[in-house]
Amino acid sequence: MKKNIVILGTQWGDEGKGKIVDYLSRNSDYVVRYHGGHNAGHTLVVNQKKIVLHLVPSGVLHANVIGIISNGVVISLSNLVEEIKMLEENRFFVKKRLFISNSASLILPFHIAIDIAREKKLGSNSIGTTGRGIGPAYEDKIARRSIRVGDLRNEKTLSIKLEKIVDYYNNQLVSIYQSQPFDYKIILQDLLKSKNVINDMIKDTTMILNSAIKNKKIIIFEGAQGSLLDIDHGTYPYVTSSNSTIGGVITGTGIGPKNLDYILGVTKCYSTRVGNGPFPTELHDDIDMYLSKKGNEFGSTTGRKRRTGWLDAVALRHSVKINSLSALCITKLDVFDNLKEVKICIAYQDIKTSEIYTSASFDELENMKPIYKKYPGWMKKTLGIKKIENLPIAAKNYIKSIEKIAGIPIDIISTGPDRNDTIIIKHPFL
Ligand code: GDP
Ligand code: IMO
Ligand code: MG
Repeated sequence: MKKNIVILGTQWGDEGKGKIVDYLSRNSDYVVRYHGGHNAGHTLVVNQKKIVLHLVPSGVLHANVIGIISNGVVISLSNLVEEIKMLEENRFFVKKRLFISNSASLILPFHIAIDIAREKKLGSNSIGTTGRGIGPAYEDKIARRSIRVGDLRNEKTLSIKLEKIVDYYNNQLVSIYQSQPFDYKIILQDLLKSKNVINDMIKDTTMILNSAIKNKKIIIFEGAQGSLLDIDHGTYPYVTSSNSTIGGVITGTGIGPKNLDYILGVTKCYSTRVGNGPFPTELHDDIDMYLSKKGNEFGSTTGRKRRTGWLDAVALRHSVKINSLSALCITKLDVFDNLKEVKICIAYQDIKTSEIYTSASFDELENMKPIYKKYPGWMKKTLGIKKIENLPIAAKNYIKSIEKIAGIPIDIISTGPDRNDTIIIKHPFL
């Protein structure tokens, strides 16, 4: 039996990770968010009820699961408190089974203000961030000036640190961006208010996880964003500010790599991207309109329309390689149900030199044009199908082709947003 599994996105995020984490976590003891922040939006649908989580791990809808927000995450306490409240209003009581790392860095209001102000100043060259302060918060972490969750324990030193950092940001906000300065005393009051809600959840999560491993507990590590948004391996600079690829699990939790038994790459059967940056298979036609509508491709966090395109196998192979994926989960197969023909980009052609590439450098995609292979559509409903043998032949052939092109097995297929619209070919825990 496999114990510890990682579930991460292979594309530019929104692959359906939340749904799959929710589905698989019924068999797990712990679910861990290990990087990113409330830029993530993970949608879970259970009995037609939709819950969108941004910070709290997607396993917590199962009452037996312990949720962990580990050291690699950047946390906006006010958003976390709001999310816990939302969960309680929906009768998911998580306060006694959610732990937050004392060494996670905080996202504070000035991070958000500077993120938004910078993007505005960049104009058409902006990254298209979610405006959640993610980049500035990670900058502070690397610059060793973060306020961390553990700092909440000592009001006096917290106040001194906060005054210093607010001063640092106010200088920039006022002189460079002509924005309003922040009053550190107000931020301090808000932090202390939030602290009252989460105080008992603050823990050394590295110790908890390592002892869970020792006690042979089952742990799911829930990725946010997608591999192509990784700060090192993505389409830099149009990326997020953390490692959304496999390394993020190790640094973001403090468990060793030998403890990971299985790494599942979640992949939509087409591609989407929110925000700016290269996207070789992007569509600007009727198919884009169709995918947007049928796939409901609007951001779970910002509500922005997601850019859409065909599945990019060059990008997929990149993700398989850099994450050493064990298997894939293909999501949103049902979105193709009304298409006569579907395509996969199997290689890129450099528009300047006409050279053809089956692998590429992901910080140099601007000149790459997709080369497609066409597949017949199935024009039948797959929504809700729960067994592989019940899929239309053309859908099975399409799945087989992805498997061949990616070079790893497809263990799970998702045929709808609901938790139960899932086909298990090989269960990760078996
Ligand atoms: P995440 O960020 O990777 O967790 O994905 P999001 O929740 O941001 O976006 C995925 C969207 O697709 C959500 O609205 C899900 O409810 C929905 N979804 C997930 N799997 C499927 C599927 O197989 N079919 C359809 N139609 N929708 C799906
Ligand atoms: P989930 O976990 C899709 C994108 C933003 C922007 C870039 C940088 O739901 O898959 P940031 O605010 O992180 O500095 O923005 O990254 N982005 C996401 N796109 N899904 C996400 O998360 C994303 N999180 C960030 O749109 O292009
Ligand atoms: Mg999302």
